[in-house]
Amino acid sequence: MCKRFDENYEIIYNKKIGSHYFELKVKIGNTYKYCLPGQFFMISIPGVFLRRPFGIYDVNNEEKSVSFLYKVVGKGTRILSNIKSGILQLLGPLGKGYDLGSLASPTVDNNNTHGDFGNNIIVAGGTGIASVYSLASRLKKKGTLYYGARSESDLLHLDNFRKLGWKTVLSTEDGSKGYKGYITDILPEQLKTSDTLFACGPIPMLKKVLQIAKERGVCGFVSLEEKMACGLGNCQGCVVKINGQNKMNCKDGPVFKIEDVEL
Ligand SMILES: Cc1cc2nc3c(=O)[nH]c(=O)nc-3n(C[C@H](O)[C@H](O)[C@H](O)COP(=O)(O)OP(=O)(O)OC[C@H]3O[C@@H](n4cnc5c(N)ncnc54)[C@H](O)[C@@H]3O)c2cc1C
Ligand code: FES
Repeated sequence: MCKRFDENYEIIYNKKIGSHYFELKVKIGNTYKYCLPGQFFMISIPGVFLRRPFGIYDVNNEEKSVSFLYKVVGKGTRILSNIKSGILQLLGPLGKGYDLGSLASPTVDNNNTHGDFGNNIIVAGGTGIASVYSLASRLKKKGTLYYGARSESDLLHLDNFRKLGWKTVLSTEDGSKGYKGYITDILPEQLKTSDTLFACGPIPMLKKVLQIAKERGVCGFVSLEEKMACGLGNCQGCVVKINGQNKMNCKDGPVFKIEDVEL
């Protein structure tokens, strides 16, 4: 059941995990029951007019908490990174997450048995990694994470994916870890038509992923991090072209089927 809340929640921690990266964990009470992989929250940041969207990184059922991974890129995230305790106002969970039931693919069948002829492939670029971890933890059949970033220090929480049983293939633009170049350079030779693909990252990466997936007839989902203002479908500030029609990324997405997206 979809339900959203606009409430004040207590910060458990907001700690630095890399040069420009932070992990924020918030106690959200029973709101955790409504959080799905691929959904997001709008976080109110004191001194900043519009709330900022952040994908759900992880949900902890025992702690009744949700966590976010974010990069400091501007005023809002800079202020947020300095708030170490107290209360934050969160609106969410918002948007549509990964509708795993909508794919007739054995690799995402979480309830029944699944065949072993296709693999689950996650492709993440930069902070796109934040919105795919809870997906990776929910998929019964573990697969391979293809993760590209600028440099080794931008590759976050790899151990968490490995602990879940995911293989990792890495790339960095400066060659400090893994393949030197873009993750999409090495994807084509690994991808089979029977695989199921999940991708989140910057638009140039997603464009390339869509091209590769469509050429090979691979199905799956992409999550779009289009800029947002209201997060609720009211301001029309986040229009994306889906199946030839204008859709709101915040309300109709941010996760869409590969075959429907034009970038
Ligand atoms: C659905 C969704 C989920 C997101 N999840 C995450 C996440 O898990 N972790 C994370 O670090 N970031 C995430 N983002 C991006 C995050 O919302 C922005 O980085 C943040 O709003 C920037 O706020 P700011 O005030 O610090 O920067 P601003 O001062 O608003 O902007 C600073 C710079 O960041 C760029 N920027 C702003 N918004 C975005 C955006 N949506 N996408 C790309 N670049 C942007 C601006 O163009 C500018 O160059 C997500 C965005 C969306 C739409
Ligand atoms: S952000 Fe307002 S309609 Fe999507």
